[in-house]
Amino acid sequence: MTAALDVIGLCKSFGGVRAIDNVTLSFPSGSLSAVIGPNGAGKSTFFNLISGAFTPDAGEVRVEGRNIAGLSRAEIVRRGIGRAFQVASIFPTFTVADSLYAAVQSGQGHAERLVGRFPLSGARARAHEVAEMLGLADKLHRVASTLSHGDQKLLDIAIALVREPRILLLDEPTAGMGPEERWRMIEKVRELWERQKITVVFIEHDMDIVFRIAPTIRVLCYGRVLAEGTPDEIRANPAVIEAYLGTAHEGAAA
Ligand SMILES: Nc1ncnc2c1ncn2[C@@H]1O[C@H](COP(=O)(O)OP(=O)(O)OP(=O)(O)O)[C@@H](O)[C@H]1O
Ligand SMILES: [Mg+2]
Repeated sequence: MTAALDVIGLCKSFGGVRAIDNVTLSFPSGSLSAVIGPNGAGKSTFFNLISGAFTPDAGEVRVEGRNIAGLSRAEIVRRGIGRAFQVASIFPTFTVADSLYAAVQSGQGHAERLVGRFPLSGARARAHEVAEMLGLADKLHRVASTLSHGDQKLLDIAIALVREPRILLLDEPTAGMGPEERWRMIEKVRELWERQKITVVFIEHDMDIVFRIAPTIRVLCYGRVLAEGTPDEIRANPAVIEAYLGTAHEGAAA
């Protein structure tokens, strides 16, 4: 399988803190994987470096073989990276529909807006398709700030999805949700991964979800890759148990 996303020797420090310290990881095309690790491990920073929110101090981020490190955020979106945030990043005063139309349009340059892939009717069609997929179709006319927390997280994902990313990064899609809502959200994530056939990487703290959903797991700790493998390999990995999972999950590995 060719890799959709290759990260090679990636480094980012904040003052004396090595938030990402020589990270090399490869995400196969069409794969679904989780990034886990303790608070402050560098997970969000890792996504911020891939999506261009931060510029790496060193290293490369290759999308389908081409380095995108240092490009503008807009250019990185055009190269096929979509991203949703740990705290939903939405336009609070826009309706769901207007948020999605604006997202389609903002991904394009002026010339593309005039003759683009998504003229207004195309933008509408794409927005409606994505809203349908994420269960927001009956809320298109709701103002974003009046949505439930879970629906705001779904809208954030929808905003990323309308631009048709080939690689989708989801930073804690279930953050702040109760147990039932969490499962509904992660099932939606799995469903869109299956239907869209894109590469999905999600950060998640709930280990029941991670072990049940993600075929491949990467563990970050102090900015480094501590381990990568299948759920069974990660559950049984002594370094991961020591650094993150603790003894409760040691039992679960048996
Ligand atoms: N913009 C920033 N400025 C300064 N330090 C930062 C910045 N962003 C992250 N850091 C630091 O980098 C380290 C990694 O933070 P990061 O947010 O990536 O962790 P995380 O694994 O996402 O944690 P959490 O599970 O709590 O979300 C932390 O020490 C954090 O304080
Ligand atoms: Mg984080």
